[in-house]
Amino acid sequence: MIVRLASIGFGNVGHALLPMLVEKADELQRRYQLTFAFSGALTRTAGGWIAPAGVSATQLLASGWPTGDIPAGAEPFSGDAQAFIAACPADIVLELTTLQPESGHPAIEHIRAALQAGRHVVTANKGPIAHAYPELLALAARQGVALRFESAVMDGTPIFNLAESSLPVTTICGFRGLLNSTSNFVLGRMAAGETLELALQAARHLGIAEAVPTYDLEGWDAAVKATIVANVLMEANLRPADVRRIGLGSEAMRREHLALPPGRTLKQVVDCVRDGDTVRVEVRLEALPSSDVLAHLAGMEAALMLHTDTMQDLVIIEGEGGPGQTAFGVIADIVTISTRPPLSIG
Ligand SMILES: NC(=O)c1ccc[n+]([C@@H]2O[C@H](COP(=O)([O-])OP(=O)(O)OC[C@H]3O[C@@H](n4cnc5c(N)ncnc54)[C@H](OP(=O)(O)O)[C@@H]3O)[C@@H](O)[C@H]2O)c1
Repeated sequence: MIVRLASIGFGNVGHALLPMLVEKADELQRRYQLTFAFSGALTRTAGGWIAPAGVSATQLLASGWPTGDIPAGAEPFSGDAQAFIAACPADIVLELTTLQPESGHPAIEHIRAALQAGRHVVTANKGPIAHAYPELLALAARQGVALRFESAVMDGTPIFNLAESSLPVTTICGFRGLLNSTSNFVLGRMAAGETLELALQAARHLGIAEAVPTYDLEGWDAAVKATIVANVLMEANLRPADVRRIGLGSEAMRREHLALPPGRTLKQVVDCVRDGDTVRVEVRLEALPSSDVLAHLAGMEAALMLHTDTMQDLVIIEGEGGPGQTAFGVIADIVTISTRPPLSIG
């Protein structure tokens, strides 16, 4: 079966997706009888193209687009994402545009339009899932199509797919985790004797911290991710602003670091509990004892501990993530959509 993909946004994740699809093409065919072809792609500045007959990942990779020419056989497309969704024939729309953490726009509109057009959607974008998950999920269900987003939290690390496929009749009662790699990296460097400024400089140099680090250090990134996990796995109805961010930021990190008792490790911890009908999420700095598994995460590692009523605590640890792992999560989602009917998660 040939499955047509149309991508809105084609940056780091799009570029990581192509070699993986090329490398796995034979296995996808042999194990699932699946061939993925791109019927179109769009970026903000380079415009886009549409190829109803489909362009293989090998052809697209060879074209060098979006810096190179559009692939052979494709027609150039100029217009915005809404016009692209209306014009591009596709089975699955990939929403891979830039994150807008405060609102999720315009990715929410992209996903809404794709679902309304009867397309399945896969996104790695946290914004629309954190801000509009219930609405988008309901729309997908009405349209009889799937909305999948494994890569929105901890890159492609299986969290939602694990819960959906491997935890039947399980209630997720809460979770704890380290969801912001930059904070973990900076606190690790500070524990090794570096100043916060130098640690941040190193994080920027590695491309993991923003020029303005507030989003990471003040807990907004963790709050956005925790909102998604709580809403999807615990049927909460939170927005990122509902997450309590307590005692965070550079000053608090310096102060807590200096006051740290021996044998403890400082981490930015996300904690989620169910309290009756309410789900509460907090992000705070914690001085963890060495008996806590989260104390041992190093560098850019991230972790999520799910509290379950069947398997007690399950801990998922991600090594250093990036566009490659994110692309894998996108592939996991497009394979799931192509091999079975949509299922709800939670
Ligand atoms: N990189 C990772 O490791 C990672 C991990 C987890 C999740 N994610 C998420 O995955 C998504 C993609 O990440 P990325 O690293 O590939 O981002 P990126 O390199 O910044 O690429 C974003 C792409 O979206 C395009 N774009 C932005 N707004 C658009 C619009 N309105 N219409 C059409 N195209 C638009 C950009 O075009 P221009 O370049 O022309 O502006 C670019 O092609 C983001 O939401 C990110 O948060 C990424």
